[in-house]
Amino acid sequence: MNKVLEKAKITHNLSKNEIMELLSGNDEDLYKVANSIKNENKGNKVYLRGLIEFTNICKRNCFYCGLRAENKKVHRYELNEDNILKSVEFAVSEGIKTIVLQGGENNHYTAEVLSKIIKKIKSYDVAITLSIGERDYSDYKAVKEAGADRYLLRIETTDKNLYNALHPKMSFENRIKCLKDLKSLGYETGTGSLIGLPGQSLKSIAEDILFFKELNADMVGIGPFIPHPDTPLANADFCGNFDTSLKVMAITRLLLPDINIPATTAMETLKPNGRIIALNSGANVVMPNITELEFKKNYMIYPNKSGSFTQNSETLKSIINGLKSENFEVSFSKGFRNSD
Ligand code: 5AD
Ligand code: SF4
Repeated sequence: MNKVLEKAKITHNLSKNEIMELLSGNDEDLYKVANSIKNENKGNKVYLRGLIEFTNICKRNCFYCGLRAENKKVHRYELNEDNILKSVEFAVSEGIKTIVLQGGENNHYTAEVLSKIIKKIKSYDVAITLSIGERDYSDYKAVKEAGADRYLLRIETTDKNLYNALHPKMSFENRIKCLKDLKSLGYETGTGSLIGLPGQSLKSIAEDILFFKELNADMVGIGPFIPHPDTPLANADFCGNFDTSLKVMAITRLLLPDINIPATTAMETLKPNGRIIALNSGANVVMPNITELEFKKNYMIYPNKSGSFTQNSETLKSIINGLKSENFEVSFSKGFRNSD
C-alpha cells in the first residue's frame, strides 16, 4: 500500500505535502482506508440528523450562496415556533434524536427568541445542533445554556485572501474567533469547507484539512461548490468537484478517526448515489431535510438542491430504506462524538 496511507493508518497525522500527494493522486485505496478507519471507530452505523431550515433571510453576501442578501429573487421566509415544533414532532415520531436548526444570518432570532425555541425542542429529549452563523460570545453562551449541544460553522476556506474576497464585510479572524468561542463554551463544534471555489488551490485545501485537525473539530462537513445563477459566481468554472470533495472527506477521516462526518446534500446533488459513495469513503452521518416543502423549496443555496422538491416523509423514508438496502445500520441515537 501507498506509504502515505500506511503512515496515516498508524499515526493519524500527515504533513501538508503528504496530504497534497493524496489529493492529486487517484488511489482508490484512500477510500478503502478511510472506510476501514470509520468502521473501526464508528462502526457500520449511520447517524441521522433532522435538518430544519428555519429561515432563509440573510444579511450576508457570500459570493457563492443563492441566499445572499442582494439576491432579490428569493422569496424570504422565517418559521415561527409552532412551524418549527411541527417539524420536530414529525422527526421525533420517526425516531430521530438530533435536530439541526439551520438558517441565514439575521437579527430577527435573538438569543432570547432562540433560547425559548431551544428549550421547547429539548423537552422532546433530542440533541440540538445550531447552524446560524457568526454571533458574539454572549449569544453563543446564552443558547448553550438554553440547551444547544452542537454548532456548525464552516470556515469555508482557510485561504485568507480568498476568504476575504468571497465574503464582503466579513473577517477571517472573526470566523476563527467564533470557532474558538464555540469550542471553549463546550459545544461539539463542526466546521468544514467548500471545494472547487474559483481561485482555490490544492495547497489551500490541504491547509483546510490541517485546520480541521488543529481545531480538533468534532464534525466536519465538506461540500463541492455548485454555482448558483443569481450570484456573482454564476459563471465560475465548475468541473469534477465531486472527486476532490470525496478525497478531502476521506483524508479528514484519516486524521480525525472518531469524529462525525456527514455525507453532504451537495454530494448527493452532484452525483446520483453520491450519499452512499460518501458513506463508503469515510462519512457516517446523513442529515435528512425535515423542513416543510412549502418552505424548503425557497432554501436554494445552490441550484437543484437534493431533496428540495419532495415531501419530508417521502424523503426520510426513502433515505432510510436506501441506507438499509446498502447494509448500513441506521442509528436512532443522539450520536455524540464520544458517546452514542
Ligand atoms: N454550493 C455548495 N455549497 C454552498 N454553500 C453555500 N453556497 C453554496 C454553493 N453555491 C454552503 C456553505 C455554507 C453551507 C450552509 O452551504 O458552505 O456553510
Ligand atoms: Fe448567508 Fe450562509 Fe448564504 Fe453566507 S452562506 S449568504 S451567511 S446563508
